[in-house]
Amino acid sequence: MKRRTFVSGTAALATAALVRPASAATIKPYSWDLSPPTDTRENFIAWGKGRGEDPTFLGQRWDRFQALLRNKDIWSPSTIRAFLLTPREEFASVNPAIHKRAYEHNFLDIGYGVTMSGPHLQGRMTNVIDVKRGEKVLEIGTGSGCQSAYIANLTENAYTIEIIKPLADRTRGLYDKLIEKGYTEYQHIKSKQADGYYGWEEAAPFDKIIVTCGIDHVPPPLLQQLKAGGLMVIPVGPPGAQRVLKVAKMQGADGSITTSREDIYGGKIVNFVPFTKLEGDKIVGNHNR
Ligand SMILES: C[S@@+](CC[C@H](N)C(=O)[O-])C[C@H]1O[C@@H](n2cnc3c(N)ncnc32)[C@H](O)[C@@H]1O
Repeated sequence: MKRRTFVSGTAALATAALVRPASAATIKPYSWDLSPPTDTRENFIAWGKGRGEDPTFLGQRWDRFQALLRNKDIWSPSTIRAFLLTPREEFASVNPAIHKRAYEHNFLDIGYGVTMSGPHLQGRMTNVIDVKRGEKVLEIGTGSGCQSAYIANLTENAYTIEIIKPLADRTRGLYDKLIEKGYTEYQHIKSKQADGYYGWEEAAPFDKIIVTCGIDHVPPPLLQQLKAGGLMVIPVGPPGAQRVLKVAKMQGADGSITTSREDIYGGKIVNFVPFTKLEGDKIVGNHNR
């Protein structure tokens, strides 16, 4: 009974995404010079309306931005800019039940049994890896596409992998629709469906890696594909007890590689959807040891 409900819910979400007509360009295309105001709510909304965005969602984006600042989930000017330029509501539009809740401090159901992470978590995880323009960034767990949308405002070299084939296809379709609409920053995102445990060998090495599904160890292939001097952020721990770690990879003068780990929430448990495993074309269990 439970299973039937899940399947039809998923089908409905997939259909909702497919039937929506392609939009004409209504948003001012991206440029690295776009500079949303950070002084007042009114100025930000007026500026965003000038880009062609909805004032109601702009107001919600501003209010969430203020909450992220107060909670120290976001602090650098480049990540603040990325947050203010990203229309979370578009990534939540795949499920009518969450569309208007896009800026809530919550994980939200995007179908296929997975979630879109909340803005506080996405903000902190993005800010922690401190992406510089030109850097190569790999995300494991595309999901709604929102986290990589932030990355696309920080570098033109964003890569993202999703294991669930229809979800990977749906999110790629959404990026393409948004590019047509004028959010040309999403041209910076290369996406594919695969098991992210093995990284993206052909595109490696990466300056930064962001993992958005939980696992009990750091996958060796991901560590190997991280450049020396690079940073990874990843939820690590047994199910129900994951902590979000910043992992730094360093190379000594003698060529030896070492890593350091720091909990970005000072010990707080943050649970994620599992880091699942692909066998052939089927998802079977997870990668926990
Ligand atoms: C918390 S959710 C999505 C978060 C996402 N970054 C967002 O902004 O919506 C984590 C995602 O990781 C995906 N995932 C789980 N295991 C994976 C794997 N082995 N490789 C790639 N993606 C995986 C899930 O299917 C899910 O979509």
